[in-house]
Amino acid sequence: MIRAAITAVGHYLPEDRLTNEDLERLVDTNDEWIRTRTGVRERRILWDKDKATSYMASEACKEALAKRGVEPEEIDVIILATITPDMHFPAAACLVQDQLGATKAWAFDLMAACSGFLFGLCTGASFIESGRYEKVLVIGAEKMSTIIDYTDRNTCVLFGDGAGAALLEPDTEGYGLIDSVNYTDGSGWKALCIRGGGSLYPPTYETVEQEMHYVRQEGRTVFKAAVAGMANVAAEIMERNTLTSDDIRYLVPHQANQRIIEATARRMGITKDKVMLNVSRYGNTTGATIPLCLYDWQPELRRGDNLVLAAFGGGFTWGAAYIKWAYDAPQLVPASDGQAEIVKRET
Ligand code: ACO
Repeated sequence: MIRAAITAVGHYLPEDRLTNEDLERLVDTNDEWIRTRTGVRERRILWDKDKATSYMASEACKEALAKRGVEPEEIDVIILATITPDMHFPAAACLVQDQLGATKAWAFDLMAACSGFLFGLCTGASFIESGRYEKVLVIGAEKMSTIIDYTDRNTCVLFGDGAGAALLEPDTEGYGLIDSVNYTDGSGWKALCIRGGGSLYPPTYETVEQEMHYVRQEGRTVFKAAVAGMANVAAEIMERNTLTSDDIRYLVPHQANQRIIEATARRMGITKDKVMLNVSRYGNTTGATIPLCLYDWQPELRRGDNLVLAAFGGGFTWGAAYIKWAYDAPQLVPASDGQAEIVKRET
């Protein structure tokens, strides 16, 4: 049986930080409220107006490919999970294909908000499992700062910019994506959306005046749905695969809010030390949170580790995946250009 294994991860984070103290100067909020209600301390922002989501996505891919010693020409498919493509169309994945020089690849965007990377992973895995493709890039990348209203304290404290990429390759030894469960409930769309700019409300002076091009969120509604959705689906994937809390090395949760993550961990019966948590440093980077976690924790991961990925986001969309990690850090092949950092680990 062919499974899809993650064989490399890469990332991109803009250097500039937007701290809670910075936000105190923009809206009526304070560091203590943000930390205790969300867990966020700072986020990264790509201020450079000439660079957008495809740039961050490409940088993340370059790092992943360099670590694995794979050339862009070898890539079969590029799936970019994003709600902030560079432009309405073409897909930002097409721009990534060009920036990478992935001449053989076909490429498309996938929109599932905060569940985007998870849905992309399952989609990419199906291509690999079919036996037809051998190298698929799945990326989560967002320039959230371009769709956030920095006068709206309900949303501006939550989000940040960044990108993470994973290379999927076939595995026949029982590693990789073992199982996944995904859901959608479109009746929740009003609680978290950008109304303007699409075919329902095309851009006009009115849509701009009414500030319809920004993310709007009914925080409490989304919070309740996210706690129930993420905790239930994480428990479901454990049950389906007869996993106990002892079997799980890490929960890799979407990083929207520390309290949602803690509720999920409680439901799974796992302790804090088994939870990947970096929301304090990057905020919610939507499609990028899960690959950024994998990147940050990669030095600790070992072949055979059981990971449960879980996400909830706009749509509503949510899901979980059970992965048997396929390799020991560091990656086997150093970057040919000497630019990529080779992860060091204790032996
Ligand atoms: N600073 C200070 N006070 C604030 C702020 C702020 N930044 N934001 C809201 N408040 C106030 C509210 O006005 C309210 O005041 P009131 O009681 O006088 O009306 C009070 O704080 C409590 O507001 P709540 O909305 O109930 O606060 P809550 O504890 O729910 O936290 C939050 C808000 C952080 C947004 C939370 O609801 C949440 O995390 N929601 C889910 C976010 C999420 O998961 N999104 C999904 C992914 S995003 C995607 O898919 C793109």
